[in-house]
Amino acid sequence: MKKIVLISLIISLLFSCTNQNDSVKTISSPNNNIVVKFKVTSRGEPSYSVAYKNNEIIKTSTLGFDLKNAPSLSQNFKIINTTLSNYNNTWKMPWGEQSEVVNNYNELKINLQETTNLKRKLTIVFKVYNDGLGFRYEFPKQKNLKEVLINDENTEFNLRSNPTVWWIPGDWDSYEHLYNTTKFSKINAISKRNNANLGATYIPVNAVNTPVTMKTEKGIYLSFHEAALIDYAGMTLKVDTLNLAMKSGLVSSDINGYAVKRNLPFNTPWRTIQIADKPGDLIASKLILNLNEPNKLGDVSWFKPMKYVGIWWEMHLGKSTWDYESTQNTNSATGKIIKKGTHGATTANAKRYIDFASKNNIHGLLVEGWNTGWKHWIGFDDREGVFDFVTPYSDYDLKEVVRYGKEKGVTLIVHHETSAAPRTYNKQMDTAYALIKSLDLHAIKSGYVGKIIPKGEYHHGQWMVNNYNKAVIKAAKYKIAIDAHEPIKATGLRRTYPNMVSREGLRGQEFNAWSVEGGNPPEHTTIVPFTRMLAGPIDFTPGIFNIKLNPYKPNNQVKTTIAKQLALYVVLYSPIQMAADLPENYIGNPAFQFIKDVGVDWQETKILNGEIGKYITIAREEKNTQNWFVGGITNENARDLDISFNFLSPNKTYEAIIYEDGTNANWNKNPTSINIRKENITNQSNLKFKLAPGGGFAISIKPINH
Ligand code: NOJ
Ligand code: CA
Repeated sequence: MKKIVLISLIISLLFSCTNQNDSVKTISSPNNNIVVKFKVTSRGEPSYSVAYKNNEIIKTSTLGFDLKNAPSLSQNFKIINTTLSNYNNTWKMPWGEQSEVVNNYNELKINLQETTNLKRKLTIVFKVYNDGLGFRYEFPKQKNLKEVLINDENTEFNLRSNPTVWWIPGDWDSYEHLYNTTKFSKINAISKRNNANLGATYIPVNAVNTPVTMKTEKGIYLSFHEAALIDYAGMTLKVDTLNLAMKSGLVSSDINGYAVKRNLPFNTPWRTIQIADKPGDLIASKLILNLNEPNKLGDVSWFKPMKYVGIWWEMHLGKSTWDYESTQNTNSATGKIIKKGTHGATTANAKRYIDFASKNNIHGLLVEGWNTGWKHWIGFDDREGVFDFVTPYSDYDLKEVVRYGKEKGVTLIVHHETSAAPRTYNKQMDTAYALIKSLDLHAIKSGYVGKIIPKGEYHHGQWMVNNYNKAVIKAAKYKIAIDAHEPIKATGLRRTYPNMVSREGLRGQEFNAWSVEGGNPPEHTTIVPFTRMLAGPIDFTPGIFNIKLNPYKPNNQVKTTIAKQLALYVVLYSPIQMAADLPENYIGNPAFQFIKDVGVDWQETKILNGEIGKYITIAREEKNTQNWFVGGITNENARDLDISFNFLSPNKTYEAIIYEDGTNANWNKNPTSINIRKENITNQSNLKFKLAPGGGFAISIKPINH
């Protein structure tokens, strides 16, 4: 193992506290392209501005907090001293988009103190990288402030121009929204729930969720997000369309009437701005991960990146049910059991999936609907105590399924739908995780469907952030990895806790089965890589071949071609990738070979091209095999893409298996038309691909051994 080299040169420049307040403190990225200026305004407000290649992108923006039961922490500050330092090291990802990450930044730390009676202290730290910056507030231990109740954080991001923005609304409960593409001045995400921290007063607020990505009028790409969201509320960004300004809007709690409660000392999450000339560089950026603490778990080799199948899509299609109860009904006259439907999670069905997986290089099986409680999991006010996370339904022999899977090289991903009743889940967590450990299993898919119980808490508030994080930290103790659905957004915690392997947190494939407007539009997955995916891995569940969902869902369909479904395995990164369709839809289809072959853990990733909302092509080299996989996708428009294979090693010949849209393929009229061909290529090769409307292409590339 290559040793992590730490070349950390700390230049500490301590300034005296006199005459510092008028001065501007400047810090640049290692390559000097990004320049951040910090100053205290004439009113004593901490403020910053950001320029990229001499273009101002963030105008003077102030920083501070509104506190409950205490004067706000926002004015009358003076600089006590500042510290400059720099850092450059490389760390290894246990699994990921690449094997190593360079962490190189310059840091400016500003210690502030109020000049008024309370003399409260606040520290602001900037870390400036070549691909963007992060800054956070640090509340040091101090006499006049022991605990803070934060009503809201007033971190401003005042923009220089009117960029084009790819946004979803600042919903406090869900990121499962379609992206809107508008000028900043036209953002229209007004929600009445968006400012509850004034007790029962709900003010309409225009706000978006992060990551929110923009293209400035000068063609610079920006994305705003946060890193290391720990014991704090999630941040939405409130939008002022007239002044082209944004301000942090913390998710609050109706129960407490404030957003965050913390004892001092503590640090807030990092507020991040990724900056790039090309949109693909936003994806290559590892800023969010670098701002998180290093791995606290040590060796996590018990988690193996993998492909998995699931007793899952069949429930979304309505072919079977999650619950056992509705499949069993007793005729009161005869006392006979009448079978009304089909329970998905049966021993026999699980074995069918295991047989299929083991024949096809797939090593995981998710089984939903295995445990008691599904009768009342959704749409009920009182869902506390409904789920039991250790008791299987009577037609599902958990131990036998685990045994059979082991014999065939297929491990179970255990499903825990909490139905957003985390208190019930927390009570059972130790027993539930101990069961998983005793079966020598290492993964959970969790779910948080519905409004949070207790009412008044929100999925993205501090209380739930702590619940999500608690599950991850506890699971690590049992050597369990987590894939959370209806999660809190990813903020790079997978670096610190690499058992946080994947999550949903977007409109995934499931919407194609039942959303009222008929499914995600073709552009959706050409926006997601530049927005949601900047936060971290996505359990999107690609790979639907029965595009029209016949005969189950006549009013819905997947709005892509089959070739685009294949490409998503490369475009959308996750260390666990589902082969989501029913086995019967894969068997006999030659396109399935790509899903069998495609890697899930990567040595290297290259973003070959891309325009947000239009198209993107990504190439990834599998760890330990020298195989490459390429995925390219387009929106509703057909397009030609020229791909150069200069990323391959020189002096080598590779066999490429190409899966491309058939001549008349079309996501709607002809989605299953696919052309599969082989070609020998080298790093000198260039190939042209014709992508159908809603189409794509996927390539698996293997070196030919001489
Ligand atoms: C929503 C999740 O996103 C989905 O994957 C799961 O099947 C259902 N909840 C049931 O838990
Ligand atoms: Ca979901």
